[in-house]
Amino acid sequence: MKRLFVGIGLPQAIRDRLSTLQSGLSGARWVAPENLHITLRFIGDVDEGMAEDIGLALEGLEAPSFTLALEGLGAFESRGWVRSIWAGVGRSDPLAFLHAKIASALLRTELPPDGRKFTPHITLARLKKAKGGPALSYLETHDGFAPVPFAVEHFTLFRSHLGRGGVHYENLADYRLTPELVQ
Ligand code: 2AM
Repeated sequence: MKRLFVGIGLPQAIRDRLSTLQSGLSGARWVAPENLHITLRFIGDVDEGMAEDIGLALEGLEAPSFTLALEGLGAFESRGWVRSIWAGVGRSDPLAFLHAKIASALLRTELPPDGRKFTPHITLARLKKAKGGPALSYLETHDGFAPVPFAVEHFTLFRSHLGRGGVHYENLADYRLTPELVQ
């Protein structure tokens, strides 16, 4: 079985910039800078045949490249605990388009559709049993964070390896986006 997801890897400069935010919150398990990414679609465990079908479905996809800008920090909470801290991604029609294209390409495989709302983000840290206070003051400290925009020229099928040393993401395939027309 292979644990897969589709996402956007980040340029080194953006990962470097984000890694400067990764301190100052006790109990946070910071995501290793090389693992920072935007998930477009989490797939989960699939067998070899399905992994191949997914690869083929994504190969046929056509969507334009675009520029993304990170926008502020936030947290996901559930049942009163803060679960993760993330960098937000500004509203972007081409990103929403790409997300929808991936969803429809994957409908051609036997994967069940993913009904979850798409909230693009880059997880910076995961937390266990964290109360809101410290996370809130962490977010306030970094309020106004505004890094440079970056070009998204391809998206990637990642395989996630869960090991004792933590998680490692293997890049299985990059899928090129069609270059933006220069005005
Ligand atoms: P997260 O960063 O918000 O945790 C690889 O695990 C990527 O897939 C992560 O970026 C993770 O999002 C995302 N993902 C979405 N749903 C998931 C799930 N049910 N289990 C694990 N990861 C999931």
